[in-house]
Amino acid sequence: MTIAVLGGAGYIGSHTVAQLIKAGEDVVVLDNLITGHRRAVDPKARFYQGDIRDYHFLSQVFRAEHIDGIIHFAAFSIVPESMKDPLKYFDNNTGGMITLLEAMHEFGIQHIVFSSTAATYGEPKMIPIKETDPQVPTNPYGESKLAMEKIMHWADVAYGIHFVALRYFNVAGAMPDGSIGEDHHPETHLIPIILQVAAGTRDGLQIFGDDYPTKDGTNVRDYVHVVDLADAHILALAYLQAGHPSDAFNLGSATGFSNLEILEAARKVTGKPIPATIGPRRAGDPSTLIAASDKARTVLNWQPHYDNVEAIIATAWQWHEARPEGFGDKR
Ligand code: UFG
Repeated sequence: MTIAVLGGAGYIGSHTVAQLIKAGEDVVVLDNLITGHRRAVDPKARFYQGDIRDYHFLSQVFRAEHIDGIIHFAAFSIVPESMKDPLKYFDNNTGGMITLLEAMHEFGIQHIVFSSTAATYGEPKMIPIKETDPQVPTNPYGESKLAMEKIMHWADVAYGIHFVALRYFNVAGAMPDGSIGEDHHPETHLIPIILQVAAGTRDGLQIFGDDYPTKDGTNVRDYVHVVDLADAHILALAYLQAGHPSDAFNLGSATGFSNLEILEAARKVTGKPIPATIGPRRAGDPSTLIAASDKARTVLNWQPHYDNVEAIIATAWQWHEARPEGFGDKR
C-alpha cells in the first residue's frame, strides 16, 4: 500500500512520515518546501517537490505512483498571519483542497485524512469541546479549514471520497530520538519560543494578555505530543480503509494549561530562568481551548503515550538544545 503525505516536510507531516515508515508503509511525500524542510523527510520516502494547487503536478505524481490513501497536512497555519492576510489562507488552504479533490476524483483515490483544527470551533460555549459543538471560527485560518471540511463533505456525497478530519488542539514536542523537531520561520508558537529563550537564541518573550477569564488570566490550551498526533493519522487512515464512513475527531489531552503554567513547566524542565513579560492580547486568540477527545480514543482506538506537559516539553527541549538552528536551511 502506498500512502501520499502532502506537506510531509512540515512539522507534523514529517513526524507522521517517520511513523509510517517505522510501521513498514510505502510513503510518497509531496511538499512545496515553502515552510517545510527537505531534511525533515525520512530518506525512505519518495519525495516530490511541488504545490498542491498545481493540478498538473498532482496528476504527474498520481500517474507515477499508485496511491491508496492521502494524509493531507499541506496548509498555512499561523493564526495572526491569517488575520493580516486572509486571502493567502483561502487560496492555499481552501483552494488547494479543491484542486486536490479534483485530482483524487480523477485518479480514483478514495481516502483522505485531513489536518483540521480546534480553530474551527472559535470561542467555545462549553468546555471541553465536543466534535458536535458549533463551529464558528474567530480567525481566517480556522475559517479556511472549516471550509475545507465542508468541501470534503460534499465531495464525499458526490464522488464517494471518504475523509477523516482530525481537529488538533495545540501540538508540541519532537521525535524522542532527536532526529526531527519543530522549526518554523518565523516561529510563532508558545513552546518553541519559550525554548528558544531557554537555548539563548532569543532574548525574551511576551505572554499575550493576562486579562482573560481563566485561572491566572492567560489563555488556556490543550497540548498533545506530535508523535501521538502522527499515530492518530495512521489509525484514521486504517479506519477509512476498513470501510468506515467519513467523520471528524478531536485530538487533545482533555487537560488545559495556561500560558503561565507552560512557562513554569519549561523553566522546570530546562532549569533556565526564561525571562518573560506580559504584553497585550493577540488578535484572534480564543480564551480557552480544551478538547473532549474520548471519541478518537473509543472509535479509532487512539492511545496517546504522552500524558503530561512536562514530558512533552522535555522532548521539544532535547531537540532545541541539540539543534538551536533547527534544520539550518531557512536563514
Ligand atoms: N503566546 C504568547 N506568546 C508568544 C506566542 C504565543 O503568549 O510569543 C500565546 C498565544 O497568545 C496563545 C498561546 O500562547 O494564548 C498558544 O499560542 P500558539 O501560537 O502556540 O498556538 P495557538 O493556540 O494560537 O494555535 C494553535 C495552532 C493552530 C491551531 C490553534 C487552535 O498553532 O494551528 O492552536 O486554536 F489552530
